[in-house]
Amino acid sequence: MGAIKRVLIAIVVAGLAYKIGEKITFIPPIPHLDPSPWWGPGNPQTEDTAIRPFKIRIPAKDVEDLQIRLGLPLRLTTPLENANFTYGMNHDTLKDIIGYWRKSYDWRAREKRLNRYPHYKTQIEGLDIHFMRASAQVGDRKGVKVVPLLLIHGWPGSFVEFYNILPLLTTPQDGSSVVFEVICPSIPGYGFSQRSSKQGMGHLETSQIFLKLMKRLGYEKFYLQGGDWGSIIATAMATMYPENVLGVHVNMIAINSAGPNMKLILGALLPAGIIVAEEDQHKVYPLKEKFSYLIQETGYMHLQASKPDTIGAALDQSPVSLAAYILEKFSTWTHIDYIRLPDGGLLQKNFPIALDELLDNICIYWYVFE
Ligand SMILES: *[C@@H]1O[C@H](CO)[C@@H](O)[C@H](O)[C@H]1NC(C)=O
Repeated sequence: MGAIKRVLIAIVVAGLAYKIGEKITFIPPIPHLDPSPWWGPGNPQTEDTAIRPFKIRIPAKDVEDLQIRLGLPLRLTTPLENANFTYGMNHDTLKDIIGYWRKSYDWRAREKRLNRYPHYKTQIEGLDIHFMRASAQVGDRKGVKVVPLLLIHGWPGSFVEFYNILPLLTTPQDGSSVVFEVICPSIPGYGFSQRSSKQGMGHLETSQIFLKLMKRLGYEKFYLQGGDWGSIIATAMATMYPENVLGVHVNMIAINSAGPNMKLILGALLPAGIIVAEEDQHKVYPLKEKFSYLIQETGYMHLQASKPDTIGAALDQSPVSLAAYILEKFSTWTHIDYIRLPDGGLLQKNFPIALDELLDNICIYWYVFE
């Protein structure tokens, strides 16, 4: 090979390496948001910044309406033999759960439980934002530090999912001198938080709303915990408002940037131990298996992201449809092997979420309409 050719190849390789390096280390700029948009219907109005106490009290006509819909004859196909949850929500299990919901589940009793913590609403950027507050219970314990914590739910969850963990966060625990003052907001469009009337509401916009909420409550600096959408919102808040966020904890982590993706692919090609440690191999490889699992389990996401109003028509019309759609996720996302069980694990004694609690969550999705 001639010297000139070799020099040219070296230049091309160096240029490529430089470009790849640039891509891997590129840090995108902080997005710029309109500091005071109006997400409510119509034209912007003066914001009412009052923090109003709120009690969960679903009107009797809505409770009756649900009862009527649950009492309609079920139109559910017979599941394929031995399919269990592998084709989605198993209809035999769904029938059992709808029967329980209709006959045994007592909304008014559950509502009382949900009102155990005080709830509030306050208007931010044109939307009524709901939050629940679980105050720190220090008692006469000395040397205990109280810190504010914003606890953010995701889909298909709601503030309902935190009731069992709140006492652990708000009271002094063995070996810890920190307790939390917990604020559980509902993401706009979830639970009792008003939905946006305008297009363009995403996790970044929600981050700004939640920062305003914490500031309105008097917290300039606070901690964050988030799961699912909550983790994405919490991560965005920590990135956009580092001066306000003391710490962030998430129980779902999504990374999709050039560097980690490149590592993932290189790790698949190179022997174990070079990029991905021997003991971590099973978590990410074989890629084919992991990707097909991801595709298998995320159809809902594509549907909701692209045609939300189409699936919305089915879910808003029938509590049976809504329960099927949400419960399937609680089964598979509790344990991936639960798709092999006839009841998806949902009715097993050791399922970590009681059926009443699962139905509380579905009721919040059902009752808060519009
Ligand atoms: C479904 O459950 C039945 C009964 O437990 C079991 O025999 C069958 O193998 C399961 N099907 C799958 C796909 O796991």
